[in-house]
Amino acid sequence: MKSKIADPSLAKNGAKQYEWAYNHMPILAKTIENALKKSNFNGAPIAVCLHVTKETSALVMGLKKMGADVYLAAANPLSTQNDVAAYLDSEGVYVFAWRGENSREYQDCIRQILRGKPEVVMDDGCDAHATIHDEKEFKSLNPRGGTEETTTGVIRLKALEKSGKLRYPVIAVNNAQTKHLFDNRYGTGQSTFDGILRATSLLMAGKNVVVCGYGWVGRGIATRSRGFGALTTVVEVDPVRALEARMDGFDVMPMSESAKIGDFFITATGQTHVIRTEHIKSMKEGAILVNAGHFDVEIDVKGLDEIAKSVREVRPNVDEYALLNGKKVYLIGKGRIANLVAAEGHPPEVMSMSFSNQLLSAVRIYEKGKTMEKKTIDVPKDIDDQVARNALEAMGIKIDEPTKEQLKYGESWQL
Ligand code: ADE
Repeated sequence: MKSKIADPSLAKNGAKQYEWAYNHMPILAKTIENALKKSNFNGAPIAVCLHVTKETSALVMGLKKMGADVYLAAANPLSTQNDVAAYLDSEGVYVFAWRGENSREYQDCIRQILRGKPEVVMDDGCDAHATIHDEKEFKSLNPRGGTEETTTGVIRLKALEKSGKLRYPVIAVNNAQTKHLFDNRYGTGQSTFDGILRATSLLMAGKNVVVCGYGWVGRGIATRSRGFGALTTVVEVDPVRALEARMDGFDVMPMSESAKIGDFFITATGQTHVIRTEHIKSMKEGAILVNAGHFDVEIDVKGLDEIAKSVREVRPNVDEYALLNGKKVYLIGKGRIANLVAAEGHPPEVMSMSFSNQLLSAVRIYEKGKTMEKKTIDVPKDIDDQVARNALEAMGIKIDEPTKEQLKYGESWQL
């Protein structure tokens, strides 16, 4: 099978990106080193549908080191770093990814990696798992199991499981504490602003920022927004989360009210059409719309097109919409996940933990998948704990062990 990438001549630069990421991912390096002592993929094909970034290259090279035959496609049509794709191709990975794939090409790339007949399917957003379960061509594909990186993907997998059609076990990497507490919160918190700042080059201090969604991602974004000195408002539909946001010190109000005050709107809900034309019409001149969720459904981009007289790109990753009502609003990265489209995704240090969970979960599936229930399974506690221990060690942090007395005390109930 031959890779399909934008430009093989970018491989040298991609190698430097890999080196930079790997050198800042000591937790992943340690995880690979330890895993190599016990496990090997023995040449098994592994399909990887993740954002093709320098951090992903560190994971993919780890899988290769462990004897896997890796087939890689992107988890988003706009997130591929072409130099990284070229580097991985030059290292013998089958890569089907380039920045700016159209929808048909995006889906075709996923089909290509599945044609490698993977034993393990690693996914981010569930498009690879959905393709296996939805398309005739892959009816007889029978992997040992899979992994899933993100909240949105886990929600889709649970729906697939509920329908009774899930054909193999999938470990929900997102559910590991060492994933969502750090990647979703600190990773997205930082990288979303990285995307906004690279795209707009504007000041955040003193601005009104509206964050839609107060899950782990929304929390991270709202906290960083406050750190920039922005007046931060949270929009939530869940009453408990809304209350938490209020007690964390944020303003909380419905979308229809916040639409009138925001300078920046950042969606992180996993839901569809959170910002609709009725909201956009009431926004201030110059409002900036940003999506931080996995899919490009949170802002109604089609509706936005319909209420605009004209659209033009005013900076890379910034489209200006001149609305029929005379105002202008700006959309970052076509409404796709802004941290990966307008920046480089989460920093390597945080992906180091997420991808350690991915790697160890892939090993677990390879070794035990055939005996596991065909369900969406949380990351086993021993893996989560191991990643945390590797992370502490990499940061040079020591912690106490509970004493025997404390262990006993923790297990007693008597008065
Ligand atoms: N998801 C968010 N940030 C990422 C990154 N840097 N690499 C791969 N997947 C990501």
